Amino acid sequence: MSQSVFREGLFDGQVALITGGGSGIGRGIADVLASLGAHVVLASRKLERVEAAAMEIRADGRKASAVAVDVREPERVQSAVADIQRAHGRIDLLVNNAAGNFYAPSESLSPNAWKSVIEIDLYGTFFCSQAVLPVMRAQGGGSIVNISMTLHYRGWPLMAHATAAKAGIDALTRTLALEWARDRVRINAIAPGPIPTEGVKKAFAPPPSADGVVDVFAQERAMESYAKKMIPLQRFGTPEDIAQMVAFLASPAGAWITGAIMVVDGGEWLAKPPMPSPR
Ligand code: HXC
Ligand code: NAP
Repeated sequence: MSQSVFREGLFDGQVALITGGGSGIGRGIADVLASLGAHVVLASRKLERVEAAAMEIRADGRKASAVAVDVREPERVQSAVADIQRAHGRIDLLVNNAAGNFYAPSESLSPNAWKSVIEIDLYGTFFCSQAVLPVMRAQGGGSIVNISMTLHYRGWPLMAHATAAKAGIDALTRTLALEWARDRVRINAIAPGPIPTEGVKKAFAPPPSADGVVDVFAQERAMESYAKKMIPLQRFGTPEDIAQMVAFLASPAGAWITGAIMVVDGGEWLAKPPMPSPR
C-alpha cells in the first residue's frame, strides 16, 4: 500500500467517477482515492479494461466498480451517471481524465483524426461535467478535476488537435468554475508533465526500423537521458504524483480553490524543453 499524507478514511462515504480510470494516470488516481475510502467508478470504452482494474482494487479491500462509457456520446454519459446515482445516491468527485492523442503533422490530419481527439478530450470533459452537475447540485456540492497538459502554453508541433483541446479544457475549467460556484461545485484542472504511461509510449512510439522492429530499449534510454537533462526535478512523473493533487483538490484542504490550473510537472515546462521537429 502506498504511504499517504492524507488521513485514513478521508473520502469515506464519497463516490468518485474517473474517466479513463482503467489505465495510466486514471488508474493511479483511482488507487489513491480508493485507498482513502472513496468508492471509485472507473469509466472507459473497454469494459474488460475497467472491470479488471476495479476487480484489482476490490481485491485490495477497497470499493470500486466499472462502467463502459464512450465520453463522446452525451446520452451514454447521461445514462451512466443516472445509473451511478441510482446505485450510490451521489457523485462527490468527477475526474475528467480520458483522452486520446498521437503525434501527427497538422497538414495531413484527416477530419476524423482531428474530430476524434477534440471529441474525446474537450467534448468528453464537457459532457461528463454537464451530466454530473444536477447530481452534485442536489447533494449540496461536489468537485470536478480536469486533466489538462502544459504543451499548449507554448504550442507544440504535431499536436494541433490535443493542444487545442486542452486549451479548451483550461477555458472550460475557468468558465464552469464561475458558473457553478453558486451550486458549491468546484472545478479545477491539473496539468501533468511527462509521465511514461503505456498510453503515452504507444501514442509517441518511435517509427519502426526498415525491418519493422521498434527498439524499445533505445526509447527507454532516450527517455532516461531526457528526464535527467530536461526536467528540473530530474525524473519523470508517476500517476501517483497526479493522484496526490487530485486528492488535495477534492479534500477540504481545497475548499476555497476553484478555477485553478495546477501544474504538476517537475518544473519541465518552465525549463523550455526542446520541441519535436515539425516534420
Ligand atoms: C494520424 C491517426 C493516428 C496517427 C489515429 N489516427 N492514429 N492519424 N496519425 N498516429 C486517425 C485515424 O486514421 C482515424 O482517422 C482517426 O484518427 C480516428 O482513429 P480511430 O482509431 O478510428 O478512432 P478511435 O477509436 O476513436 O481512437 C481514438 C484515438 C486513439 C485518439 C485515435 O489513439 C485512442 O483511442 N487513444 C486513447 C489512448 C491515448 O491516446 N492515450 C494517450 C493519452 S496521453 P481516419 O480519417 O483514418 O478515419 C496524452 C499525453 C500528452 O494525452 C502529453 C505528452 C507529453
Ligand atoms: P492512457 O493510459 O492512454 O489513458 C487514456 C484513457 O482514456 C484510457 O484508459 C482510455 O480507455 C480512456 N479513453 C480514451 N478514449 C476514451 C473515450 N472515448 N471514452 C472514454 N474513455 C476513453 O494515457 P495517460 O497517459 O494515463 O493519460 C491520462 C490523462 O493524462 C489524459 O487526459 C492525458 O491527456 C493526460 N496527460 C498525460 C500525460 C502523460 O505524459 N502521460 C501528460 C499530460 C497530460 P479506453 O481505451 O478503455 O477507452
